[in-house]
Amino acid sequence: MSAAFKWTRKNLLGLRQLDRQEIEHILETSKSFRDVSLRPVKKVPALRGKTVANLFFEPSTRTRISFELAEKRLSADTINIASSSSSVVKGETLKDTCRNIESLKVDVLVIRHPSSGAPHRMARHLNASVINAGDGMNEHPTQGLLDMFTIMEKKGRIQDLQVSFVGDILHSRVARSNIWGLTKLGAKVTVCGPKTLIPARIEELGVRVTYNLEEAVENADVVNLLRIQLERQNQAFFPSIREYATAYQINSRVLKKAKPDVLIMHPGPVNRGIEITSDVVEGPFAVILDQVTYGLAVRMAVLYLLSGTLPEEKEE
Ligand code: CP
Repeated sequence: MSAAFKWTRKNLLGLRQLDRQEIEHILETSKSFRDVSLRPVKKVPALRGKTVANLFFEPSTRTRISFELAEKRLSADTINIASSSSSVVKGETLKDTCRNIESLKVDVLVIRHPSSGAPHRMARHLNASVINAGDGMNEHPTQGLLDMFTIMEKKGRIQDLQVSFVGDILHSRVARSNIWGLTKLGAKVTVCGPKTLIPARIEELGVRVTYNLEEAVENADVVNLLRIQLERQNQAFFPSIREYATAYQINSRVLKKAKPDVLIMHPGPVNRGIEITSDVVEGPFAVILDQVTYGLAVRMAVLYLLSGTLPEEKEE
């Protein structure tokens, strides 16, 4: 990692707030943690003595487990709080919940919340570090970072790559974090989906819009698929799932139009048979499980940087 660069941020709230150098520093730091999980003893003492609380007010498999494992591999003490088993169900506010947790001398709060901006509001009230693990339709910064890390690992660069996002862009915090990050690192980003699922004026973020799947796939170095977020939809954005799949599904027929070395990515959870077919999920172009693997290294890097501690010398 760059010795000259000094990390100064206490919180990771989004990639919108970070500059290119900060993003590159996180990606570079992630490389140092990538191989920890391959050692016989999968642990480093970087966060020994620190405590991290994971507060998940929405369901999660990958992000929650990945953060908890990252904390444990960094030797932190961890606590997990789910909204259903907390006093939130008795009416306690998020602010009161977080301040009570902070009173227990917790150093970092990892927060997933259905309300856009919730982690940002908590960061204003807390001395502890706050990491956004996904806030409403706004951002999912560690997903954006792990997607970029995966591209770097597989392609060796991000600058000038063509990256297409296909699916429910409107409701996708993953798309938003990726757009902020990838455009800062020099990628050419395209978004594709039904008109009703493309946010108005998204071109102002420096992306190209197409409603045609073939246009999004041909010439793309990376195609990142987004699932239809039925849980965030209170109106009909397209006639039926079947019609959506007919127009926007990535399957072996569509892949014939793609570059021979295209990467197929998906943040998960995958809805097989809707945005992507099973044979593509299991096929040679998909790096979906690599994304999950690299997510651990990225979250270790983020926790390490925010905690402001230095790891001990690595063993040979
Ligand atoms: N990618 C992602 O955020 O997955 P989870 O919802 O399972 O955490």
